[in-house]
Amino acid sequence: MTENMVVSQTSDRKKNYDEVTPQIAALVEGETDLIANLANITAALKEALGFFWVGFYIVKENQLVLSAFQGSIACTRIDFDKGVCGHCYTTRQTVIVQDVEKFPGHIACSSASKSEIVLPVFNKNGEVAMVLDVDSDTLNDFSETDADGLQMIVKIVERLI
Ligand code: SME
Repeated sequence: MTENMVVSQTSDRKKNYDEVTPQIAALVEGETDLIANLANITAALKEALGFFWVGFYIVKENQLVLSAFQGSIACTRIDFDKGVCGHCYTTRQTVIVQDVEKFPGHIACSSASKSEIVLPVFNKNGEVAMVLDVDSDTLNDFSETDADGLQMIVKIVERLI
């Protein structure tokens, strides 16, 4: 991939995030059912950004439990000390993995997944209540543009919980 392509992909993606964020805010406005809102958020993100997989894992029964998602079948429960999602949960920080095969403990739900970004979603008590997980079928697909863009979506979700 040439540098020009990287720049153009980054600016297109920023534009896509900027466009889809107000749409998602409008989509959840007035709806109180959390799962319905999360489902629509994942659908909007997948459609707008073309992600391979996008979904939420909710903290439940001392694990991360699969919730609304778009994409292929995924593992249903992740221990807090396992995988990229568990790493995000325990460090309470956004995690970007450019090559999942190089991340020790990565949980491969699909062999097509090559890179990944996971963001924590905090509740009003400052606890991680869920994580937003996005997978790509391309190596090195995520950057600060995605961390910033997805953070805008996380802020919308945090207002719902
Ligand atoms: N790869 C994740 C597991 C979830 S799937 O990607 C949907 C992880 O290592 O935590």
